[in-house]
Amino acid sequence: MLFENMPVITGEEVECALRFSAEQVVRNLPEFTYKFQKAYSEDGFYQPIENNYWTTGFWTGEIWLAYEYMKEAGEAAAERLKAAGEIQIDSFLNRIDNKIEVDHHDMGFLYSPSCVAGYKLIGSQKGREAAIKAADQLITRYHPVGEFIQAWGPMDAPENYRLIIDCLLNLPLLYWASEETGEGKYREIAEKHIHTAVKNVIREDYSTWHTFFFDMKTGAPDHGATCQGYRDGSAWARGQAWGIYGCALAYKYTKRKEYIDNFKHVTRYFLEHLPKDMVPFWDLEFTDGDDQPRDSSSASIAACGMLEMIKSMEPEDAAVYKKYAMQLIKSVYDNYAVKDETESNGLVLHSTYSNHSPYNTCNHYGVDECNSWGDYFYMEALTRLHKDWMLYW
Ligand code: GLY
Repeated sequence: MLFENMPVITGEEVECALRFSAEQVVRNLPEFTYKFQKAYSEDGFYQPIENNYWTTGFWTGEIWLAYEYMKEAGEAAAERLKAAGEIQIDSFLNRIDNKIEVDHHDMGFLYSPSCVAGYKLIGSQKGREAAIKAADQLITRYHPVGEFIQAWGPMDAPENYRLIIDCLLNLPLLYWASEETGEGKYREIAEKHIHTAVKNVIREDYSTWHTFFFDMKTGAPDHGATCQGYRDGSAWARGQAWGIYGCALAYKYTKRKEYIDNFKHVTRYFLEHLPKDMVPFWDLEFTDGDDQPRDSSSASIAACGMLEMIKSMEPEDAAVYKKYAMQLIKSVYDNYAVKDETESNGLVLHSTYSNHSPYNTCNHYGVDECNSWGDYFYMEALTRLHKDWMLYW
């Protein structure tokens, strides 16, 4: 086993981390009930934004996770959190009804932790309505030629004819919509996309492409390319983490055994390329001694994927991946988590959203800061370690 001697997070630490996180969410409610946290903090502090970016669902997801924790603890704050969650659901319904910045594939990131969660937790009918409409929006981006959901941009341009690995997390929304409506079309598209994605984004050595292009006329796989990774051919840390969680979810929804093998291989690649403290640099090309920023969010995302996958594994395997997940979260908690609210209004420091390099095509922002999904998945991982969690995905 790799990292044999790294400590695991204890039950007491999970409780302490979850309590601080839930209290931090409550402290943020005055500023972030009618507004949302920006994708990333600036000097440790999030500014408020309207509900018009691909990341806003994570903040609402944190509200629901805090609600679950406070409710179970019998704290009065649970009611405030519930009310805030419902206000945010109104905003998500308005967003999909008025098609505000929804012409991209991130409907799952937006609507699963916000509206599906609100429906599952408190029976929000507005949440249900909004999430089904979001699923309808998502399937408009499906290309039967190539059998994938296009990530970004207009649908008729060859330079946009690609999927990205992150999209695996958008697909549970489609499975949920099929279950809710009894209509198979959502699930059928999700299944086609998963198959195309997994077949093409995982390389021979089990590192992953961030994005993969297809021929617009024939649908044939064309080539991989990075956007947010360091270079084509390197493994963007968060892409690899989306791959880990994505394979676990792919198995959950399809029950195809090959996705467990894929999970094991992409996880192994991730673990083998971690620095000593197990929290990756922003690209797995980098390690201890490199003057590069970390992406702490990848550690939490990978841990969540492992904690999901172990539900379907034999006890021996499950113990191995549970230990890795507990080690990852221990390191995030010890070395990266916010412990003092005067330092930051977020939960986890040292994450990287988009780091421009000479060889990639992304903009430069949110480097070595908190980000909204880093905070959300840290809380999700803690909640998974705290109890048998009913997932929002
Ligand atoms: N899905 C975009 C990102 O992970 O930055």
